[in-house]
Amino acid sequence: MDDERRSGAPDDPIASVLETFREAVEAGVSSRGEFERLKGRFLGREKGLVPALFSGVKDIPPAERGGFGARANAVKREIVEAIGRLSDDVARREAMSRERAAAVDVTLPGRRPRTGALHPLTIVRRRVEEIFLRMGYSIADGPEIENDFHNFEALNFPPEHPARDTQDTFFLQMPPEAEAGRREANPESDLEDRAPRSPLLLRTHTSPVQIREMRQRGAPLRMIMPGRVYRKDEVDATHSPVFHQVEALVVDKGISLADLKGTVETFLSELFGAGTKARFIPTFFPFVEPGADVHMTCIFCRGAGCRKCKGSGWIEIMGAGCVHPNVLVRAGIDPETYTGFAFGGGIDRIALLLYGFPDLRLLFEGDERFLGQYAGRLLGDPA
Ligand code: DAH
Repeated sequence: MDDERRSGAPDDPIASVLETFREAVEAGVSSRGEFERLKGRFLGREKGLVPALFSGVKDIPPAERGGFGARANAVKREIVEAIGRLSDDVARREAMSRERAAAVDVTLPGRRPRTGALHPLTIVRRRVEEIFLRMGYSIADGPEIENDFHNFEALNFPPEHPARDTQDTFFLQMPPEAEAGRREANPESDLEDRAPRSPLLLRTHTSPVQIREMRQRGAPLRMIMPGRVYRKDEVDATHSPVFHQVEALVVDKGISLADLKGTVETFLSELFGAGTKARFIPTFFPFVEPGADVHMTCIFCRGAGCRKCKGSGWIEIMGAGCVHPNVLVRAGIDPETYTGFAFGGGIDRIALLLYGFPDLRLLFEGDERFLGQYAGRLLGDPA
């Protein structure tokens, strides 16, 4: 090498290619791309500096050609070998960085897998169901698209009752042929004929399931009927056009208001805690007689009086009563033999109370950040 360098005058092309190559290697090759550029620059078939040396042979006096060729070959060999080593280096470095990227850092904190969670409404509905199942009730379901017969008529709503008002009820628009068929129905015809012809609507409460179950199963009967209901309400903190209710119905011989009161108090104590009391304020629901608004001990102040219960110590929780004889008759049950009680209330409202949520909309907006926090738990349960 030394003598090559010595013999390499400034115009010695062989020495200058070797010199340029060494400088380039010294400058360093940090990536596969840079390596390929360097390789091309020296060995590239078209423009490579080394092949260029050989194509210059023809300009050399014949006597010197032999020596030039030998030196050029020696330099070529050196460059080819050096490039081979460089290629190995680059490959080794690439492998190392791949390994580092794939390596497991055991000191990193674990990543929690995203899991689903039950919706608070599902949790509350199941709690309610469990309580009644323990008391020997069964659970029934009914259609959300109901007809006027089950939703109102059979429940003893007078024909012009304001609850039927389009203000509250979503009526479904029927195809004209179907409408015509309905109007022709004989208003005096029996229930079997009338029910399927009465106007369709979205049920405004779960009470129509009472009628369906009584007509299908007859008495005695002991069941709850949870489900979704609809009313034309504007959305705000306490209203939603879609919400949830649970209905209870017991029909048997000798059922009285005392059974109703005992059952309601047992249910509320199971759900809201021992010692929860119920009081009945007489009111009118067409399908019960007597009818009552049920109030329970305020769960926030335990009856002492607070802002939530407006100082009264009580909060309204549901409607209840003894099944009206007209309802039993329409459902095909003899009111001389059987009596019954029923009650119904909002599952959403129960959930707001149990969780202490301030706003009904939290239950319907489906925000996972909110919903994920309640996986299987009720307020007050151990975390
Ligand atoms: N269906 C009534 C409503 O939605 C609630 C209700 C009141 C249900 C009295 C009952 C009852 O079973 O007996 O407002």
